[in-house]
Parts: sequence; structure tokens; C-alpha cells
Amino acid sequence: MKDFAGKIAVVTGGGTGMGRELVRQLVAEGCNVAMCDVSVDAMAETKQLCEAEKLPQGLRVTAHVADVSIEDQLRRFRDELIAEQATDRIHLLFNNAGIGGGGSLFTSTREQWERTFNICWGGVYLGVRTFLPLLVKADEAHIVNTSSVNGFWASVGMGVSHTAYSAAKFAVKGFTEALINDLRLNAPHVKCSLVMPGHIGTSIVSNTRKVQSGTESDRLNPNEILQARQRLQGMGIDTAPMSDEEIQQIALDRARTFRDEAPTTASAAAKIILDGVKAGRWRILVGDDAHKLDERVRQTPERAYDPEFYRSFAEEVGWRLG
Ligand SMILES: NC(=O)c1ccc[n+]([C@@H]2O[C@H](COP(=O)([O-])OP(=O)(O)OC[C@H]3O[C@@H](n4cnc5c(N)ncnc54)[C@H](O)[C@@H]3O)[C@@H](O)[C@H]2O)c1
Repeated sequence: MKDFAGKIAVVTGGGTGMGRELVRQLVAEGCNVAMCDVSVDAMAETKQLCEAEKLPQGLRVTAHVADVSIEDQLRRFRDELIAEQATDRIHLLFNNAGIGGGGSLFTSTREQWERTFNICWGGVYLGVRTFLPLLVKADEAHIVNTSSVNGFWASVGMGVSHTAYSAAKFAVKGFTEALINDLRLNAPHVKCSLVMPGHIGTSIVSNTRKVQSGTESDRLNPNEILQARQRLQGMGIDTAPMSDEEIQQIALDRARTFRDEAPTTASAAAKIILDGVKAGRWRILVGDDAHKLDERVRQTPERAYDPEFYRSFAEEVGWRLG
């Protein structure tokens, strides 16, 4: 697909981060967008930003509350889209919504683990299932599934457990790669791409907390304080002398630095993703860190989970995660 003007795109998780930037850049190119998110306020802000940047005449930007891990909510989103965008087809599907967390079988609860897995994997799978009939009806269409570098490397550093997210992102990668041929055989006018971002400056750390704890508050509850202590201890930091207030502050700082000190902005990431779709690439790595990690894992797969592998990679790209 060379051009997005006049097309209709679905973006999941359009309220903030890369989803928001995808919505803005698609709209700027004259593409109609239907976004979903769990946050009404975040979507309202995205819509406002699009309007402030001047919506091309007659363009439709619609916002729909839907949790991508719940099939009934995705179906309601699809039905609202059909009515509000007055269409029976779409051209682009960005399965972008995701959260982190749920890292450990020991220190996370089963509920947290499955929430992360069901959003990051289930959201992509159900998104494709729900919107495939509308994509197939278009003359040409493209599915864009967001995985991560954690789709080929299951870690964010040796001090942190990262099982649910990695399992989900590997699943997204396998599913999307297999989908290439399934589409070629059965719907050759529909293509797909796999997005594997490195560290991108977004609010995913604080948004994850909000989704996992079901609160809009930035303050950690006692259970989260305990988990934050366990995380820091895993990183070799002695938290025994630290007060709960100090732990709160460290958690807030971590979310802020993740957003503000990333090597790639959400806006630059969205541009790389859209350029990759236009170039017809199925494999879209986002950021120099993602390219470098991809090379290193392929060069020395057996060493990929050695502390030295991470130390030397983190030093090369300037990562301060995990
Ligand atoms: N930021 C990074 O460094 C990074 C790296 C690799 C991959 N990713 C992936 O990129 C995607 C976008 O992440 P981001 O960094 O822009 O995060 P973000 O938190 O800024 O944006 C994600 C959006 O999805 C929404 N969301 C969360 N759970 C949802 C659900 N169940 N249903 C619908 N919407 C939901 C959030 O409210 C938020 O608006 C995710 O799949 C993430 O895993 C991010």
C-alpha cells in the first residue's frame, strides 16, 4: 500500500504513545481512523490533537472504548465503526495496544500474568479475527501487528523477570510470520507486517501500572510497593533501608526516565512503522537498538541470556532498563 489517503484504518491503543502518533500521522495523510482504547480521556486528547492540526475536510476520526483482550468489546467496536464510519470495509489494522508487567511466575500474581498475556497476545489474535472480514472486503489491505524486540529476545535485563510479555510478543511474531503465507494463499490482496520496536519513549510503564491495578492514580498500592521492592532487589539494590515513600519516588522516576530518556520518540517510531508499511516490508524493526539487538541475537544465540551479553549490549546502545 503506497498511499493512505482516503483509506480507513483501525488503531488499537490509540490513546497514547505509538498508537496516538500512528493516529495523528495517518490523519495528516488523509486517512480515516477508528481507534480504540481503555481510556476515554486519552482518546479524547488524541482526537483533539488531530483537530488542532486541522482535520482534512470530511475525514472521520472516531473513538471507541474497547479492551482488546475481550472479544465482545472488539465486536462492539467493529459494529460502532461500521455505523460511524459508514463502511463495510477497512484497509489498515494496527494491532498496537499492549501493556508490560506480569513478569514473574513467582512474584507476580496469576491474574497479572494472564492480563499482560491476554492483552499483548489475545488482543492481536482477536483483533485479526474480528476485523479480517472487513479487511478482505477492501481492494487492498494491510495488517500491522506490534510485537517488540521481546518477540525475539525474552528479556529486559538480567535482574528482571519478563515472562508474560515475552511469551506474548513471541506469539505475535510467530503468528504474524505464519500469516504471511495464509494471506498469500487465501487473500493475496491483504498483506501483513510485524513491528519490533526497541526502547521507545512512551508512558507504557505508568499505563501498565494503571491497567494492572485498575486505578488512575500514580501512587503505588501496598502490593505494588512490595513488587517494586522485589524488582529492585532482583537488580541488586538493597531496599531494606528504604521507606515506602522512597520506593514510590523510584517507581515514578523509572516511568519518567523510560518516557523521556528513550533513544527513539513515539512520533519517530510511528513514522518508521508507516514508512515500512508503504515499502511493503513484513519485518519492521524500530530504532537502532532494535537493529543492533537483532544482529547480536542472531550472531550469538547461545549467549543471548548471559549477563555479559546484556551488559555489553546495554553499554553499546545506552539502555538503562532492567
Ligand atoms: N514503548 C516501548 O519501548 C515499546 C517497545 C516495544 C514494543 N512496544 C509495544 O508497542 C505497543 C504500544 O506501546 P506504547 O509504548 O505506545 O504504550 P502506551 O502505554 O503509551 O500506549 C498503549 C495504549 O494502549 C492502551 N491499552 C492498554 N491496554 C489496553 C487494552 N486492553 N485494550 C485497549 N487499549 C489498551 C493504553 O491505554 C495506551 O493508550 C505495545 O504493544 C507495546 O507492547 C513498546
